[in-house]
Amino acid sequence: MTDTTERPQTTAGVPASRLASLRRREDARFTESRPHSRALLERARGSMPNGVPMSWMVELYEHPPIFVASGEGATFTDVDGHRYFDTNIGDMSTFCGINPPAVVEAVARQARRGLQYLLPIEDALWVAEDLTRRFRLPQWQFTLSATLANVEAIRLCRFVTGRPVVLMFEGKYHGHAEEWLVDPKDGALRPAYPGVPPSAGAWVRHVPFNDPEALARALQPGDVACVVTEPALTNCGVIEPDPGFHQALRALTRRRGTLLVIDEAHTLVCGPGGLTARLGLEPDVITLGKFIAGSVPLGAYGMTAGLAQRFARPDPASPRAAFASGGTLFANALSMTAARAALEHVLTEEAYARTAELGARLADGIEERCRRRGFDWRAHRLFARSGYCYGPALPRNASDYHATMRPDLYHLMRVYFANRGVWEAIGTAGPTVSVAAAPADIDHYLACLDEFLGELSA
Ligand SMILES: Cc1ncc(COP(=O)(O)O)c(C=O)c1O
Repeated sequence: MTDTTERPQTTAGVPASRLASLRRREDARFTESRPHSRALLERARGSMPNGVPMSWMVELYEHPPIFVASGEGATFTDVDGHRYFDTNIGDMSTFCGINPPAVVEAVARQARRGLQYLLPIEDALWVAEDLTRRFRLPQWQFTLSATLANVEAIRLCRFVTGRPVVLMFEGKYHGHAEEWLVDPKDGALRPAYPGVPPSAGAWVRHVPFNDPEALARALQPGDVACVVTEPALTNCGVIEPDPGFHQALRALTRRRGTLLVIDEAHTLVCGPGGLTARLGLEPDVITLGKFIAGSVPLGAYGMTAGLAQRFARPDPASPRAAFASGGTLFANALSMTAARAALEHVLTEEAYARTAELGARLADGIEERCRRRGFDWRAHRLFARSGYCYGPALPRNASDYHATMRPDLYHLMRVYFANRGVWEAIGTAGPTVSVAAAPADIDHYLACLDEFLGELSA
C-alpha cells in the first residue's frame, strides 16, 4: 500500500521551509551590509572573469565574494569593516596564521637581499634537512604548489617503475592536473569538466578508500606506478583510515612493486611530521605545499635515496636531463627563506600541541551543541581540523560522505556565521584551528553555532 500522507521535506532534520526563510534573511543581510565589496566586484567584472583574479574564488561560495582589506593572526577584515575569525584558513593555506611575525620578518629581510636568483641559497639546505628530520625521507625537491609537487612526484614514479597507471582513492583531491579531473561514468573515468581531454583518465584508476580487496584487485595487473593518497582523506569531509588499512596498503604496494606517494598538503596540520609521522607510515614519496612556507607559495616533495639517484644523468655528455622537473621560479629565494622561518619558528611541537587541544575543544563543542539542540550530527576530529557530518555515523569512504552531505545547510551556515563575525570553512577545509587562534575564538565560534542551531530547531 502506498503511503499518501504528505510529510514535510527536511534536510538533516530541518524543514526545507525553515531553511529557505533563514537563507533569504541571511543572504539579504550579507549583501546589504557589504556595499564596498559589492562595488569592487561590479568594477572587477570589467577586467576579470566573474570579477575575481582566480575564478575558484567565486565558485567556493554561493554568496558573492568579499574583498579583504587586511588580516592579523586568526582574523581578517573586509573592505566594509567586518572582522572575521577565520576557520577556513585559506583552504588550509594559512595554518601558520595570516601574517606570522617570524615569516613576515624573514620575507622582508630576504626581499631586501634579492627575491630570486635561479640559484640555491643556504636556507634551502636548512629546509631540506629539517624536512628530512620531520618526515624521514632523505632527499627533497621544491616546486611552487602542492599540485606541482604531485605532478612531479607522479612523473618520477612513472619514470622509475616504467609503468603508466596512477591509482587514487574515490573522493580524493590532489590538485588541478588534467588526469585528476575525471569522474567514473559508464565503467570508465571521464572528464569531470569541459576542456579536459577525453583521454585524461586513461592512465588513472580509482578505488574506494578503506577497501583492501578492491585495492588488491586494482594493483594486480602490475601496471600501477604509484598509489597517491592522503593519510586520511580530507576533501570529502574527513575519512579516517580503518585500523590496518595503511598496513594493508603498504604491504600490497610493496608486493606489486608499486610506489607509495603520501600527500600531506592538508594533513600537515596534524603534527610536525604530518599524519605520516603520527601513524608511522613509510611512503616512498611525500608531497607538501599550502602553508609549508607560511603561505608564501612553495610546494615540496621528499623521496628515498633510491628515487633521488634517478635524477642523475646516466650519460653526463647528454644535454637532456634524466628526469623532467622544475620551473623558473620554483625554490626561489623568497619562498625558501619563508619556509625556513615557518618551520623553525611557527610549525613547532608546542604550536601543534596547542592547535590539537583547540581542535579537540572545537570538535567536542560542536558535538555537544548539536546534541543539546536535538541534532544527531557528528564532528570530524583530526587534531586541529574538525568538520560536520550531518548524521550519526562518520563516513568510511566517498559514497558515505556524499550520502550525508547537505550543501544547502552548509551554505546557510556559512552566510549565517559570516554575518556574525566567523568566516566558516568550506566543506573541504574544516573548520580548522590555526596556530594563531585562541580559546576565546573557539568560544565565539561555538556561541555562533549555538545561535544557529537554536534558530534551526525553533
Ligand atoms: C590534499 C591536497 N593536495 C594537493 C592540493 C593542491 O594544492 P594547491 O592547489 O595549493 O596546489 C590540495 C588542494 O586543496 C589538496 O587538498
